[in-house]
Amino acid sequence: MEDIIIRMVNIVKSFPGVQANRGVNLEVRRGEIHCLLGENGAGKTVLMSILYGLYKPDAGEIYYNGEKVEIRNPKDAINRRIGMVHQHFMLVPTITVAENIILGQYPSWKVLNDMPAVYEKIEKLSKDFDLDVDPSALVQDLSVGEQQRVEILKALYHGADLLILDEPTAVLTPQESEHLLGFLRQLADRGLTIVFITHKLEEVMQVSDRVTILRDGKAIATLNTKDTNPRELARLMVGRDVLMDLKKKEGQPGNVVFSVRNLRVTDERGLLAVKGVSLEVREREIVGIAGVSGNGQSELALALAGLIDCEFDEITLNSTPITKKDFARLNHMGMAHIPEDRQKMGLILPFSVSENFIAETYRDEPFSKRGFLQFRTINDYSKSLVEKFSIRCGDVEEEIANLSGGNQQKVVVARELDRRPKFLLVNQPTRGIDIGATEFVRQQILAERDAGAAILLISTDLEEIFALSDRILVMFEGKIMGEVPPDYSLIEQVGLMMAGKSAVHA
Ligand SMILES: Nc1ncnc2c1ncn2[C@@H]1O[C@H](COP(=O)(O)OP(=O)(O)O)[C@@H](O)[C@H]1O
Ligand SMILES: [Mg+2]
Repeated sequence: MEDIIIRMVNIVKSFPGVQANRGVNLEVRRGEIHCLLGENGAGKTVLMSILYGLYKPDAGEIYYNGEKVEIRNPKDAINRRIGMVHQHFMLVPTITVAENIILGQYPSWKVLNDMPAVYEKIEKLSKDFDLDVDPSALVQDLSVGEQQRVEILKALYHGADLLILDEPTAVLTPQESEHLLGFLRQLADRGLTIVFITHKLEEVMQVSDRVTILRDGKAIATLNTKDTNPRELARLMVGRDVLMDLKKKEGQPGNVVFSVRNLRVTDERGLLAVKGVSLEVREREIVGIAGVSGNGQSELALALAGLIDCEFDEITLNSTPITKKDFARLNHMGMAHIPEDRQKMGLILPFSVSENFIAETYRDEPFSKRGFLQFRTINDYSKSLVEKFSIRCGDVEEEIANLSGGNQQKVVVARELDRRPKFLLVNQPTRGIDIGATEFVRQQILAERDAGAAILLISTDLEEIFALSDRILVMFEGKIMGEVPPDYSLIEQVGLMMAGKSAVHA
């Protein structure tokens, strides 16, 4: 058999306005774990979606076991023993694990007569690979980690020789990630080939045999993992040397600026997503909320920002009790909010950079006088923010939709911080933006703390939580599991709390 299982040659793929892959070459060896490393937007998912038959390349060739192939759709891919676990799982929640596993593979539901055999095969695989998957469970009752195991088992069920995983650890706790990486190693030892997409350097170092770095839609290099190091990988990934050391001074917490007692929030399905959260944030302090995504953090943030309904015993801002009526004018009371989803909540995409800067203040002086917009003032103000926050845009009249994710995020951060908030609520400030912009945004948040703000930081990125917080609260299933100081030696304990184990008091 060929030593090279997959060869992708000169793959080109464009979408309107974006060249996602610009002539990518990739060779994957049989039985190896091959990492695809790259920043957000580098083209990793598109490249693997082409291999899995989800997109048709504009140009380029794919060789599979030495033979030139065309993979028209995922069914083609599965028939060729290629499996893919997507970033967002594709399971149907309302049916069982077994039904999900065979779904789409048979011309009809004839196979239903054969369910006992299907169950048997799933149980055997589950046992062989120590996956602990129950074929009769409803997918909607499974945790995220369990759903991921179902996706993997589905690929194994269909006889995958090559398994592609797209950022699989993004939704897992540190312990679950550790377990998954060990499991992938086992699969590779049994002869499976694995392509593992990630933007995390430590994962590459820990699990892969070789790594291909993608940048800007091109494969920059393929290296043997044992011959490289995180610093070199970071440089190749970003295209320059990166300094990821933030200069964080010791916090000097002062008076309580914001406090909430017994907050309850119901989610869109009518279930209690936040189950009685109490916390306070002091001036010159960053309180971080860690947790696996989906444990009530989004609802907590939306409720505190006044964007969804909630119940509470008491909320105070600068010692003033807040009523539900006050929520509409929180930003006039000294609060600012950097939301989780900049495109849906933070920005108005068809508007210009400058219109986005004044979206909430255009009625106020000095931007408006006697009902007339002061274009000159607005323009000067916008230019000063663009300069101060190093936002890369054509000019301030450019549509915000044309900016990169990192620059869009800087627009939101610039607008919110420029109001000199007393209380700043920040949710996922650096998700999906490049390392350079991440560094910048984090520096700005720290500077705001040092200037006196009380900051509540919600992030599923543990590294970010440890780097910025003065105190860390861990959230699990709508509750605060406990508090820890930002000491990296406690990361394992935080991981356990993220999985619902209560704090072991040191
Ligand atoms: N279906 C699509 N339509 C338009 N643009 C897309 C689509 N899928 C990806 N892109 C763009 O292609 C580029 C590469 O995306 P992707 O492969 O998802 O990056 P990543 O390396 O983060 O996985 C990005 O600029 C992305 O916005
Ligand atoms: Mg991706």
